[in-house]
Amino acid sequence: MLTIEDLVLTVTDPDTGQETEILHGNSLTLGAGEALGLVGESGSGKSMTLKCILGIEPSGARVDGRIELDGTDLLTAGGEQLRRIRAEDLALIAQNPHGALNPVLPVGRYLIEGMSDARGMSRADAERKAAELLREVGIDDTDRVLRSYPHQLSGGMLQRVVIAGAISGNPKLLLADEPTTALDVTTQAEVVAILDEMRRERGLSMIFVTHDLDLAAAVCDRLAVMKDGEILEIGTPEDIRDRPQTEYTRNLMAARPMLYPDGHPAAFLADVDTKEADA
Ligand SMILES: Nc1ncnc2c1ncn2[C@@H]1O[C@H](COP(=O)(O)OP(=O)(O)O)[C@@H](O)[C@H]1O
Ligand SMILES: [Mg+2]
Repeated sequence: MLTIEDLVLTVTDPDTGQETEILHGNSLTLGAGEALGLVGESGSGKSMTLKCILGIEPSGARVDGRIELDGTDLLTAGGEQLRRIRAEDLALIAQNPHGALNPVLPVGRYLIEGMSDARGMSRADAERKAAELLREVGIDDTDRVLRSYPHQLSGGMLQRVVIAGAISGNPKLLLADEPTTALDVTTQAEVVAILDEMRRERGLSMIFVTHDLDLAAAVCDRLAVMKDGEILEIGTPEDIRDRPQTEYTRNLMAARPMLYPDGHPAAFLADVDTKEADA
């Protein structure tokens, strides 16, 4: 469903005119319903890759190569077509849920207005749908949560609300940029388990960006290891673990913290009760 070929991102310093290449000709493919983990240390170009897909690269930056979503080249698509694809087919879940939510409005407004504005739903239908979406992300006391302001909810609850908002428009492709990095480890596991379950049930494709190799391995079909703006290798979690192709990946494997018992993060995630609200 997504094909990226020879993606090069070049930024220009507005003061000096100096050009810097940030992404150096990366290629990847993503099938329908597939989850790809984009794994690498801070500054390796993970977020910039997602921004190129979303068409929100820094102003003045140049994107070369090809990014094709279901047959449409996003780099040559016209304004209106691109706007529609961004609104309907792609959904971003960012690291900090506060960035998506208005601090002076109850979170219900975010979900309900999103749906009634963008999709012409009646208010009553949007309210019903919002509660349904919250239950889908493991929130049972939907009335209370819909009426709450962002500061009244935990980071884990807020990220569930953002995930609910992200799926409300039935996107084809979820772009999750370190969606749980700001959460504590237990909450992190719960939110990742919800995202994983929801994505599988709906058959959505996902690019899951993280610096945590184990976490990516738990929820992704394949992993792409990034370093300094370059994808070094792509393989299944087993390939990456048992047959790393580069010295860098070997070191990354050796250095990773053992957050999960027995090195089986999937088993660990399966133990998490996703219906347990944490607010
Ligand atoms: N607005 C920007 N303008 C120019 N360079 C940037 C900008 N934002 C990030 N960069 C550079 O792009 C590179 C990749 O950044 P990023 O994709 O955010 O890394 P990651 O998400 O993997 O931590 C880094 O070297 C960073 O310094
Ligand atoms: Mg980033």
